[in-house]
Amino acid sequence: MDSNGLRKTIRVKIISMGNAEVGKSCIIKRYCEKRFVNKYLTTIGIDYGVTKLVVRDRTVKVNIFDMAGHPIFFEVRNEFYKDTQGALLVYDVCNRASFESLDTWLAEMKQEIGSPNEMEKVFFCVCANKIDRNSQRQIDESEGRLWADQHGFHYFETSALSGEGITEAFQELFNGLVTAYENGGRAVRITTTLGYTKEQVEAIQRLKNSKNDYERLGLRQGASKDDVNKAYRKMAVILHPDKNIAPGSEEAFKILVTARTELLKNR
Ligand code: GTP
Ligand code: MG
Repeated sequence: MDSNGLRKTIRVKIISMGNAEVGKSCIIKRYCEKRFVNKYLTTIGIDYGVTKLVVRDRTVKVNIFDMAGHPIFFEVRNEFYKDTQGALLVYDVCNRASFESLDTWLAEMKQEIGSPNEMEKVFFCVCANKIDRNSQRQIDESEGRLWADQHGFHYFETSALSGEGITEAFQELFNGLVTAYENGGRAVRITTTLGYTKEQVEAIQRLKNSKNDYERLGLRQGASKDDVNKAYRKMAVILHPDKNIAPGSEEAFKILVTARTELLKNR
């Protein structure tokens, strides 16, 4: 214990990961400096910063390594994966490629960090960033959350612009790091399941994004009344709000009911 009644200081290293332009630097700036920079200044290699805070009864000194997302900086960033305890895995909700790259980022880290055992020590928070640009969104919450959940990672909807979700994400990250420290250096993964499946998420997406009612039900143009009813019943089972608790399922169920009604009109 020190004079303030705090236990031994912990030193931790966190890194940011994710494609170029997803908002890694802005998220860190928003947390550390409480401000947003609109102009895009791509990170060259690595930016480094330090912050200090108290979590529960411990002082935590945090070394932040903000990585460059662009592939050309791979040679610079690859050596920085070692000895990492926490990682922010960031994608842009308006850019599907950045979401689909998350697995590649994990693979890069796994390769560079040394051993699978080292990977198990890292505590991950996923930041689904730029949620302020809602109308341009390509990845909805249910899909992002499902990916995070499948990996046992924590998930946050964030906006470096508005500040939404940023404090929460860092708080969870630092809490997780202290818990891991007290746990002998092993990060705790989320083990609860969300209670919904990829099939359910895909059904919601198809209903929300399709251009016409046949497409919504997964049918070809001019499908018969029987086919419409069959497809409806199949999807209703997947989507029924009593069974599907994925975000957006209620709205999707309403779209499904309307689509069927429209397709059966004037027959
Ligand atoms: P690299 O350093 O090249 O890997 O990119 P990065 O991930 O660090 O991206 P950066 O934080 O520099 O942000 C990229 C661009 O996105 C900038 O123009 C930011 O202003 C913008 N941006 C970042 N976060 C947000 C956000 O939450 N909302 C909106 N609307 N724009 C954002
Ligand atoms: Mg950057």
